[in-house]
Amino acid sequence: MKLFLIGFMGSGKTSLGRQVAYMLGWRFVDMDKEIERSCGMKVSEVFATHGEDHFRKCEQDILRDVCSGEGDTVVSTGGGAPCHGDNMQAMNRMGRTVYLRMSPAKLVARLEHGRDKRPKIQGMDDARLLAYIREALPGREEYYGKAHLIIDCDGASDQYICEHIVRFAAECRSDETNR
Ligand code: S3P
Repeated sequence: MKLFLIGFMGSGKTSLGRQVAYMLGWRFVDMDKEIERSCGMKVSEVFATHGEDHFRKCEQDILRDVCSGEGDTVVSTGGGAPCHGDNMQAMNRMGRTVYLRMSPAKLVARLEHGRDKRPKIQGMDDARLLAYIREALPGREEYYGKAHLIIDCDGASDQYICEHIVRFAAECRSDETNR
């Protein structure tokens, strides 16, 4: 089974995904890392050298590979992945999706570090970042909102979120077995 973690930049997809995979004893795949491996450069360099359209094409190719791969896997997606092409439908068809929902204010706080490696928000101060998230999030939530499970992460501990996801994975597994 594939379990896809989706959500805005800074919502914790990678760190929570790694912990959940460890708790479940599943494989962990970080899509941005896979893109970097396949392109031989950092995400920010892919954007700068080849542009966003090329990045989205690589992202879709990697998603296709992940979906067709064998074994139980937790997949941390890039924040924009569900919102391009038919990626969201593909993830919902090939596995289970979990949206880590977080408010703009919380996202800004969590993105205190790590803005520079993210081309969409490089160089933004807090006020600009907050405005950017407030503008971008509603459009993205049209896709994120199609997830099988939505977790409100504001104020929730990592442990609570991980346990929630692990329980959900176990329920999906038993649904599959009983089908
Ligand atoms: C992006 C999010 C990033 C990365 C790229 C574009 C986006 O991933 O894929 O910089 O469009 O939201 P994270 O969500 O892991 O930061």
